[in-house]
Amino acid sequence: MIELDHEVAAVWKAVTEGHAEWLADRILKFDLTHENLMNELKILSTDAKQQAFQTLLKNRTLHGGILAEGSGLLKNGENGKGIKSRWYPQTLAKRILNLNAIREKITFLKSDALEILPNYTQNKQAVFFIDPPYTAGGKKAGKRLYRHCDLNHEKLFQIAEMLQGDFVMTYDHAEEVKNLARKHNFQMRLIPMNNTHHAQIFELVIGKNLSWLEDLQMVHEKRPDYSISSLTGERVN
Ligand SMILES: C[S@@+](CC[C@H](N)C(=O)[O-])C[C@H]1O[C@@H](n2cnc3c(N)ncnc32)[C@H](O)[C@@H]1O
Repeated sequence: MIELDHEVAAVWKAVTEGHAEWLADRILKFDLTHENLMNELKILSTDAKQQAFQTLLKNRTLHGGILAEGSGLLKNGENGKGIKSRWYPQTLAKRILNLNAIREKITFLKSDALEILPNYTQNKQAVFFIDPPYTAGGKKAGKRLYRHCDLNHEKLFQIAEMLQGDFVMTYDHAEEVKNLARKHNFQMRLIPMNNTHHAQIFELVIGKNLSWLEDLQMVHEKRPDYSISSLTGERVN
């Protein structure tokens, strides 16, 4: 697992370095009020687990979960619930604890994927899931969403072409991305998704050979939301 953003990286570090239970406990015990949130976010700490908690708080209470500079706190949010509208502590804690159960299988690197991936091009056993920021062709979404949005997409496609192992990449449905995929002789499929505004959009899946996607049986049902239900009935968008 490779991630460049120091705040997102703090969450992966906290989990992989054995602080998932601490994190889950803080999430469950935190009384989310505007004052408590402000006090918590003010803390300057070099401790990865504290930074991880602050990242999760920001991700759940800032507009669209956007960590990039300049994002504001949710005022109305879902159902007019403001900062609480996307705070699902039970679900969040459960996810962190689920990750804890497999943490020994995860190696986390706070690094530039474009520098790390070339080390694995000859490994036929390796399989890669590549989920880059959606900024190819000057798309605005990725620029607004991510601090590290300036990715050299052409270089990423060149590296992907050198991979001996298999890979799957996800991008948004943009002409420039499709042109890159065509140029590198990759296959493409469109997958329907629901975005945060509950509108159906299509995400582009790119790979060397996506025939396995055709073998999947289609499920003919309307998905209510991009959400996961927990035992407590909470959901996370
Ligand atoms: C579409 S998001 C992926 C989110 C992630 N898969 C998840 O669900 O937690 C793109 C991510 O790529 C990261 N990123 C951007 N450039 C990167 C690079 N060169 N190397 C590693 N990560 C990068 C961004 O910080 C952002 O978190």
